[in-house]
Amino acid sequence: MRTTLITGGRRRIGGAVAAALRERGENVVIASRLDTDGVDWAWDMTQPMPALPNVDITDVVLNASIFEAGLAWTGMDGDQANKEAALLARHLQINVTSGWRLIMELAKRRPLTSVVMLLDARNDRPWPGYSAYHVSRAAGYGMMRALAHELAPTRVNAIAPGTILPGLAAKHAESLGKAAERSVLGGGKVKDVVDAVLFLRDAGHITGEMLRVDGGLLGA
Ligand SMILES: NC(=O)c1ccc[n+]([C@@H]2O[C@H](COP(=O)([O-])OP(=O)(O)OC[C@H]3O[C@@H](n4cnc5c(N)ncnc54)[C@H](OP(=O)(O)O)[C@@H]3O)[C@@H](O)[C@H]2O)c1
Repeated sequence: MRTTLITGGRRRIGGAVAAALRERGENVVIASRLDTDGVDWAWDMTQPMPALPNVDITDVVLNASIFEAGLAWTGMDGDQANKEAALLARHLQINVTSGWRLIMELAKRRPLTSVVMLLDARNDRPWPGYSAYHVSRAAGYGMMRALAHELAPTRVNAIAPGTILPGLAAKHAESLGKAAERSVLGGGKVKDVVDAVLFLRDAGHITGEMLRVDGGLLGA
């Protein structure tokens, strides 16, 4: 029986991937910082790495992000520069370093079948004012390519969603409609991302690839 670990698997896209796998009757381990009581297979992400559940994990979906916490800067004084450096370190930790450590730790225990990372379709069209976030996503792309090489035959791929759900902060509430206007196919659904995650997880001869699920973000 395959067991897939989904970081951020309690809600939103991660929660939908977890639900789709459970419907198939597969084992799912979720990782969350929130209360994980009452969940059969869970890892409290505030615990150190050795506290990972001792189960044979075969696949990983790396999903955690602090997208909703992105802050914009215009002119920068010393304090702001320090804040931006701290934000960059935090984005790198959540979107790159912690995922990298998790994969390495799991790969030491036993070979993984596949890893699917969630990146962002805006990877090569960065929003001004969100450089810390975008730098972490570009690094995530590099990590995906490097690990595909290093960990073969484990397959390592990434999905790059367009805006599917608005960010959690109130200021993102309108982002969904605007994003839908930018894609030639209009707005997408969480299921579109879930289907793509499952496709890449199971695609036996694909590794080192990033698949966009953005409805054709071909213009601005
Ligand atoms: N939603 C979109 O339209 C969209 C668009 C482009 C890219 N993406 C990317 O796709 C992925 C999933 O997006 P989403 O919108 O479903 O989720 P999200 O709102 O970006 O992230 C929420 C998930 O990430 C976890 N998380 C957040 N901060 C964390 C931290 N500091 N440490 C550990 N876990 C943390 C949360 O886990 P807890 O249970 O602990 O809160 C939660 O499950 C993300 O990487 C996101 O950047 C999403």
